[in-house]
Amino acid sequence: MSDTFRFARAILADRDVAAISPSSRFLVRRVLSRLDLRPGCRILEFGPGPGVITLPLLRRLPSDARLTVVEKNTDFAGLLRSVADKRLQVLEADARDSWDAALASLGGHPDAILASIPFTYLTPDERRQFVSQAYAQLPVGGRLVVFHQYSPLMYSYLKRVFGAARLSFEPLNILPCFVMTAVKR
Ligand SMILES: C[S@@+](CC[C@H](N)C(=O)[O-])C[C@H]1O[C@@H](n2cnc3c(N)ncnc32)[C@H](O)[C@@H]1O
Repeated sequence: MSDTFRFARAILADRDVAAISPSSRFLVRRVLSRLDLRPGCRILEFGPGPGVITLPLLRRLPSDARLTVVEKNTDFAGLLRSVADKRLQVLEADARDSWDAALASLGGHPDAILASIPFTYLTPDERRQFVSQAYAQLPVGGRLVVFHQYSPLMYSYLKRVFGAARLSFEPLNILPCFVMTAVKR
């Protein structure tokens, strides 16, 4: 089954899926270009869906790296659990209350955090808490990459907590998507 069909089916049953189609290859490339994939690195991804970013990321990830993904949708989490890759850990959980479990599964602090959950569905307090947690868990030089359709909503949160953030835009996606990156200094 294609990811496009999976999304169409999933969003009918679960509004938190929040996208009518998976990220395009242009957006995947843009997001992955924000990462520094060094040997032994640890990456945390919130909202992987069926693995649109996860699978290309695994193809680039060094053999001793670790990737933990946190996905709330049962079908998507099940699909990711079927990926046979010892670097990948899948948590079926809500990004709002899974930090401890995610860090335990990762075996330490993440070097990068990716997030494509629908932040519009979170309250302003939950958005602030998410970005503050990300900041607290990243080492100096670590980065948070948020990609979000419709609006650069999270840009001001990233700037406030990290002190600075980079905003870019990928038009070749359904729907066009903002990519926001903040590095801990
Ligand atoms: C817009 S889709 C992005 C999917 C994929 N990363 C992509 O780039 O195509 C958002 C994903 O976040 C998941 N999600 C939504 N709210 C979540 C939450 N609070 N915690 C964890 N995952 C969540 C949805 O189930 C969905 O898979």
